[in-house]
Amino acid sequence: MTSSDKGALWGGRFEGSMDPTMVPLNLSLDVDRRMWRHDIRGSIAWARELGRAGVIPPSDAETLVHGLERVERRIEAQGIPVDAPDEDIHALIERLLGEEVGPVARRLHTGRSRNDQVATDLRLWGMDAIAAVSSDVADVQRALFGLAERGMDVLMPGYTHLQQGQPIRAAHWAMAHFWPLERDRARLDLVLDSAGVLPLGSGAVAGCPFPMDRRALATALGFHSISENSLDAISDRDWVVELLTAAVLIGLHLSRLAEDLVLFSSKEFSFVHLSDGFSTGSSLMPQKRNPDVAELTRGRTGRLVGSLMSVITLLKALPTGYNRDLQEDKSAVFQALDSLHLVLPAVAGAVRTAEFRPDRIHDALAGELLATDLADYLVRRGVPFRDAHEAVGQLVRRAEERGCALEDLSDAEFRRASDAFQPDVRDVFDMEASVEARDLPGGTSRRAVEEQLEVARAALRRTDEGA
Ligand code: ARG
Repeated sequence: MTSSDKGALWGGRFEGSMDPTMVPLNLSLDVDRRMWRHDIRGSIAWARELGRAGVIPPSDAETLVHGLERVERRIEAQGIPVDAPDEDIHALIERLLGEEVGPVARRLHTGRSRNDQVATDLRLWGMDAIAAVSSDVADVQRALFGLAERGMDVLMPGYTHLQQGQPIRAAHWAMAHFWPLERDRARLDLVLDSAGVLPLGSGAVAGCPFPMDRRALATALGFHSISENSLDAISDRDWVVELLTAAVLIGLHLSRLAEDLVLFSSKEFSFVHLSDGFSTGSSLMPQKRNPDVAELTRGRTGRLVGSLMSVITLLKALPTGYNRDLQEDKSAVFQALDSLHLVLPAVAGAVRTAEFRPDRIHDALAGELLATDLADYLVRRGVPFRDAHEAVGQLVRRAEERGCALEDLSDAEFRRASDAFQPDVRDVFDMEASVEARDLPGGTSRRAVEEQLEVARAALRRTDEGA
């Protein structure tokens, strides 16, 4: 045996040693090391249950539990050495346990396989990570809420096809990025539920022959229920796909916010000013002020999609039961969650310190934004909408021909388009009146937007209270 086989977990069966090219391929410690706390947590629960069920002497169980606690303190203090000889985190913890308690450590793996162990560890890690990412998302929402409050009195063009459509409150635009994140958090709650099913006690494939209480294990480890089929449980990574799907959607939502910020902070728009802390300059062009926070956020979305794709591909047509391919799941999950944890706080900070530029936004509001309101004016005077649409279309064409704004057309020109136009049509040329007219729930009137903010505030409050 070579040094790379030292401490291998299957030593009895093998005579030859592992080929040097196989050794690095086989290792996963550099990736799964970050589950060390979860591995110890799972092992402590398992050791206790082994003792309670009388599978091992209770005093040995106690020794294992105390030993694992010492291992935890040791890793906390010293970390995991980069040159640790172990194949994965499970082997490492067991080796350190042996160093702490001696041969009793060899009892810990009774009735357990790394297959149900790793499935359990990753779920434990995932449940913690989901809570953390959800709180990061909530922080971006708080920042958007603040931006919305700053934009209540700012009227801006609402875009469709990236062409000016109708006026809206800037608050409404900010909140349009709030609600997708609220759905994301609801989705994360569902993923938390999927992750909360305990695989431990499934063994390698066929279950556990000792009288372990799996429900008690679930409760001890914070799972809400136990898996129903050992063969399914050890290779079920559906919750990983769900988590990565949720991560992709968060990424998509952030990328759309990012795209708006890139556009709105450009010279051409200048609707939004991003603070220095989230912008960069150019090494060549002294005037440059680049919205890097938004570009990097937009760019990261690719990695999230990549993580989801790699796990879906990994699972496709995998034979029933555990297969070593599954070892690849962790790097995908960690990479995705790391990306979110990097991006979300920066986005929150950028949004929190962003300012609207009402002067620039005001200058950009084109009179044509009120064309729909002119049609609505005619509708209120009994004109069928299609006819009203046509009449206003003629006015827009006329204004284009004359190179003037809609409101600069004469009364006679209005009359020529439709005799339902009266002098009070001039009242329509009021952006504020236009947004105020849209007063249904979900609309742009002050009352509707304030109601929207109230619902949002209540959602954030529920989060703060941990509901
Ligand atoms: N490192 C492995 C993984 O991440 C642990 C399970 C190994 N199981 C096995 N039968 N070789 O999936």
